[in-house]
Amino acid sequence: MSLQGRRILLIVGGGIAAYKCLELIRRLRDRGCAVRTVATKAATEFVTPLSLASLSEDKVYTELFSLTDESEMGHIRLSREADLIVVAPATADLMARMAAGMANDLASTVLLATDKPVLIAPSMNVQMWQHAATQANRATLAARGITIVGPAAGDLACGEVGSGRLVEVPELIQAIETALSPRPLAGRTALVTSGPTWEPIDPVRLIANRSSGKQGHAIAAALARAGAAVTLVSGPTAEPDPVGVTVQRIETAAEMLAACQQALPVDIAVFAAAVADWRADTVSTQKLKKGGEPPTLTFAPNPDILATIAQHPTSRPRLVIGFAAETEAVVEQATAKRLRKGCDWILANDVGLGTGTFGGDANTIHLIDADGAEAWPRLAKVEVATRLVDRIIAALA
Ligand code: PMT
Repeated sequence: MSLQGRRILLIVGGGIAAYKCLELIRRLRDRGCAVRTVATKAATEFVTPLSLASLSEDKVYTELFSLTDESEMGHIRLSREADLIVVAPATADLMARMAAGMANDLASTVLLATDKPVLIAPSMNVQMWQHAATQANRATLAARGITIVGPAAGDLACGEVGSGRLVEVPELIQAIETALSPRPLAGRTALVTSGPTWEPIDPVRLIANRSSGKQGHAIAAALARAGAAVTLVSGPTAEPDPVGVTVQRIETAAEMLAACQQALPVDIAVFAAAVADWRADTVSTQKLKKGGEPPTLTFAPNPDILATIAQHPTSRPRLVIGFAAETEAVVEQATAKRLRKGCDWILANDVGLGTGTFGGDANTIHLIDADGAEAWPRLAKVEVATRLVDRIIAALA
């Protein structure tokens, strides 16, 4: 999404991560965004107003009771002229003052006076983040519609380890893009499955497949960008959780089905996960030992999650979309699969050797619905996701 011409009011809180704001301002400016900055008094202990002003090429506002600032640009105008207000780093103190509706400095006053969307990126010590007071404030702010990005987990500046790091700048930019995107699916709910399932054989061995989760995660992210409230049920993957999506991590097909059923009712359901069709009939509680005859595995069928949800007697989503992973007669097999499973659309992809569909960054799709098959060109998986979401928006309009 283009950020060209968008106006961001960046409120810099007083935390060690404030230095990352300098990089954030640069990257936003590179994308054609106008950035105006408010720095709390504590923030100016970590970054100088001169650095903020130089990079944003604008004045930095710090004082509530500044005669010059108020006559040039009152705090009400400051809070209304932006397309989005971003608070980074959002300290525990600033979050508490926002939650309490306080207006005892310029930053908190602007946040109280604004009628614009607000996105905050918390950053603080792990204990402060986990404290019941901060968690209550987080819940209050989220319930008011404020977008909360992070914090990320890792080494903290204070020497402790845990949740509390300001998210990295690219993730922050992605969240800003999402917050500024048109939101045609606002008010809609969506369920997406992604990744492989792991079916255990014994405590150390399992049956898995090559799904990376790239396609399913990209779809969940694109639905969230369009404004849907998305639950992503994902098998084990290395993909990061998409911004603004509720993620349920599971391992087995049975767990995936339970998580999907719990997410109902939803308006839209997309099944991109590569679910194991079978699981080991019996799972050994002890590690199977070498020596003698190799063990013989017998299998039991797994539940078909897509078919179960598509044929749900009371909570069938309005639009049910499956995938079909085929290695031959792709369109014919997928057409039959759509009817068998009872979904509205099926996205057929060739997963034969050499296609790179499993694990790769691109995909070639045939979208099959009741009217027939439509061939899409080879696209990056994120573009497949965007195109699919455009179709969903049109179908629900
Ligand atoms: O994860 P990536 O590396 O990005 O790869 C993407 C992908 C190749 C995994 C994805 O594009 C894809 O094709 N997903 C479906 C894989 C699959 O299991 O296809 P299938 O033809 O076996 O199943 C058909 C449909 O039924 C799928 O929507 C599947 O999620 C669903 N299914 C299958 C079996 C089962 N027990 N429950 C299900 O819900």
